[in-house]
Amino acid sequence: MNQYRSSRIIRDLAKLSFDYVPEKLVHREKQMDKLCMIFRPVLESGVSQTALLIGSVGTGKTATSKRFCLDIVREGNEIGRPMDFVVVNCRQRSTEASVLLRLVNHFDERFPDRGFSTMEMLRALRKHIESRGIHLIVVLDEADALLRRGASDLIYQLSRFDEEKVGGRSSLSLILISQKYLLDLLDPASLSTFRRANVIKFDRYAVDELRDIIADRAELAFSPGTAPDDTIDLIADISAEFGDARFAIEILEKAGMLAEEDGRSYVTAEDVRTAKAFTYSVVTRSRIEDLDIQRQLVLLATARAMRDRAYVTTGEVEKIYRVVAEEYGQRPRGHTQFWAYLRAVSGEGLLETKVSGDPSGGRTTYISIPDIPVKALIDMMEEIMSETEK
Ligand SMILES: Nc1ncnc2c1ncn2[C@@H]1O[C@H](COP(=O)(O)OP(=O)(O)OP(=O)(O)O)[C@@H](O)[C@H]1O
Ligand SMILES: [Mg+2]
Repeated sequence: MNQYRSSRIIRDLAKLSFDYVPEKLVHREKQMDKLCMIFRPVLESGVSQTALLIGSVGTGKTATSKRFCLDIVREGNEIGRPMDFVVVNCRQRSTEASVLLRLVNHFDERFPDRGFSTMEMLRALRKHIESRGIHLIVVLDEADALLRRGASDLIYQLSRFDEEKVGGRSSLSLILISQKYLLDLLDPASLSTFRRANVIKFDRYAVDELRDIIADRAELAFSPGTAPDDTIDLIADISAEFGDARFAIEILEKAGMLAEEDGRSYVTAEDVRTAKAFTYSVVTRSRIEDLDIQRQLVLLATARAMRDRAYVTTGEVEKIYRVVAEEYGQRPRGHTQFWAYLRAVSGEGLLETKVSGDPSGGRTTYISIPDIPVKALIDMMEEIMSETEK
């Protein structure tokens, strides 16, 4: 590839990567302030704290928590209160042992990955923290994955980490992140350490907020003047449907690449539209993978019922759902459950429902599938579901 041509628009690809943590998170000032308020006592009087960050996909939970930890660790070190932090992704590490191993490995890379009980690993962690005299902030990202596998004991242990200590400063604070409200997944004992006041909500971004986020990111990653205002507006409009900043940044990146491949010196609206079609299927895929099997079955049944029609009724879908459930070796659930699944899938933006009156005076709910060709959706779902079956 021609180096000159390939760098005409995108000046700094790293600024578009998921790992990049922006210096400042626009429109997350309130969440940042609240985190600072909750954690101020850690800096000032050395007590430990807990916080819970909640919000839907791409609302900046992970990025905000990382920015916050980087900032507070810097501040702590400046005022002689040494701190450190570890972010653990609990979707990738969804057992107590693997989370603990990650924490111990943060201090000791060579700590063996088997042969130690959770109690022994907790003890090792405590030793590392104490010998360094630090306060450690543990961020359990996507903590619902951990809790759903029944690991609330670990959260209990970590939230009471300092209890057996007599006097002295605290050594461990906890931040939990989840898309869903998860306090009800915690057992009462750990729940008592998570005060409701420490829940921080991340709403979906509104169109203006997305515009600012994309404009910021374009300025960081693109050469000056290569992403005109109208392309940025269009990306904001498109991604406002989900309020998802990750979706917006993915479109920005893809659109930039398409423009470069075409040898142009700036990004057009058409690049954005093409990028959207491409990104949508990537994002849809990850959303589908996140659904549990019953919700996947409902979506697959909808797609199969749809074929080339614009709308299908819930009755038609429910019939096909029962067949599809059998096909995948699952027990079809009753009518009420089916409705709950349907609502959940539509809440994820994967299908749309609308109610309308019919001539006999009854009301019928119609379902449609937005944005993605039904055939492509069916193929994608069958592939995903055969993978999870294995
Ligand atoms: N306010 C913001 N300013 C700048 N960039 C942002 C902002 N919010 C989110 N982003 C960027 O959007 C992307 C998604 O954000 P992040 O990963 O923090 O979302 P999330 O809430 O953790 O989503 P998920 O629930 O899927 O894990 C990241 O690349 C992040 O840098
Ligand atoms: Mg995240």
